[in-house]
Amino acid sequence: MLFKKSIDALIKESTESGEGTLKRTLGVGNLIALGIGAIIGAGLFVRTAAAAADHSGPAVTLSFILAAVGCALAGLCYAEFASMIPIAGSAYTYSYATMGEMVAWIIGWDLVLEYAVGAATVAIAWSEYLNKLIENFGVSIPYQFCHSPFQTSLDGVQGIINIPALFIVILLTFVLIRGTQESATLNGIIVILKVAIVIAFIAIGWGYMNPVNHTPYIPVNAGEVAYGKGEIGFMDFFTHDFGKFGWSGIIAGAGVVFFAFIGFDAVSTAAQEAKNPSKDMPIGILVSLAICTVLYVLFGHVLTGVANYKEFATAGKEASVAYAIENYMHSYHWLSVLVTVAILAGFSSVILVMLLGQSRVFFSMSKDGLVPAVFSAVHPKFQTPYKSNLIFLVFVGLFAAFVPGEVVGDMTSIGTLFAFALVCVGVLVLRKTDPNRERPFKTPFMPVVPILGALVCILMMVGLGKHNWERLIVWMAIGFVIYFVYSRKHSKVRKAHKNGTV
Ligand code: ALA
Repeated sequence: MLFKKSIDALIKESTESGEGTLKRTLGVGNLIALGIGAIIGAGLFVRTAAAAADHSGPAVTLSFILAAVGCALAGLCYAEFASMIPIAGSAYTYSYATMGEMVAWIIGWDLVLEYAVGAATVAIAWSEYLNKLIENFGVSIPYQFCHSPFQTSLDGVQGIINIPALFIVILLTFVLIRGTQESATLNGIIVILKVAIVIAFIAIGWGYMNPVNHTPYIPVNAGEVAYGKGEIGFMDFFTHDFGKFGWSGIIAGAGVVFFAFIGFDAVSTAAQEAKNPSKDMPIGILVSLAICTVLYVLFGHVLTGVANYKEFATAGKEASVAYAIENYMHSYHWLSVLVTVAILAGFSSVILVMLLGQSRVFFSMSKDGLVPAVFSAVHPKFQTPYKSNLIFLVFVGLFAAFVPGEVVGDMTSIGTLFAFALVCVGVLVLRKTDPNRERPFKTPFMPVVPILGALVCILMMVGLGKHNWERLIVWMAIGFVIYFVYSRKHSKVRKAHKNGTV
């Protein structure tokens, strides 16, 4: 039997707990700002160059388009959920009501990859740009203290610990514990700053593009180069050359830059504070996605035009945007400094949103009995789930300090893609199992959109390759053990069903 939380109970619960009394103050403009605030971050300023260097070359622009298509399709499904269950929540809450406890657990557990591991990824990116910034003052942190033990510099120095990444996680956790009245004004300023520097880089960098860097636009697949035969096909997903440029590289690159779109679902978590959720939520989600896509494609085009994508595997591997400006746009040193400062501020806000999202999801899971009560213990003075924040400080801090950015980045992507695929399936399931519930926003072109959405997400997961699948499987296996050993026994919904109180 599937143990589900009833949608009516969810809505009632949120009203009783006071959550329902959140003021409805956010208009469509605020929602779009919220979305962009959570979206533009390390994905654009760090992972774009990595995707170009390792997978798609200048065709990283096509990778962005593929990732955006996947997000838009999944976004339409998110929007249906968000409008019909307009309470503060996330994919976890939606899936509890639609696909039952086990799927909810899978998604909730999986979201740790999106939020907590994602926060570590952005923290590592923050460390790269901090180093770039202080170089302007003639100082730099020794390589071994700003890299994980799994990284070695071009001249052979091995990393030990990433102290700046750990520092920013600690700092922002304490900001979170003190309670962020996430100020819409501050968020607004950071959004304007982020968008402004992206546009400035595109506009100024356009004139510095070298056509040679864009030739060929889609570099030839490594297998084809080595063996002279046609591109390695899908069936060779586990072979060495899959995803190394060519068309399979575009798919692999999409999996990597997908990270840059993560966060648009944050809009759906603000459903309760939206003035007109049924109309404004889908607009908020889709418009923020559309704006980011246009900016990303142009940005990727300019970045790989200014510097050659191959350099992003070597000298330009870190803080690649600042690298491109400094080396090829000589009279724009000020832009490089400005970009770096804005990026540091922007990354901080993304980390904050992710840490906050993580504590919210575990707060709900803890209220439902699926994870221990410590995750919903609230600070007497600050009213924040401080114990949860502290536990995640240790978890995120360990990843930030000791794991390379590309590993955590791709783990975040694969975990989030998996959650998105499940959300797409969830919309389909709910249309069948609860066809009469009011749906202020309906996913169009049913069932094409959710089916395509799930398929595109799975395609990108395939693109991320064998090691990331292994990591996902190990993570989910740990989750299953916890579910069967702990969560089933403590589930409140399950108990209520057994006692006949539901
Ligand atoms: N999309 C967010 C970023 O790129 C997570 O940092």
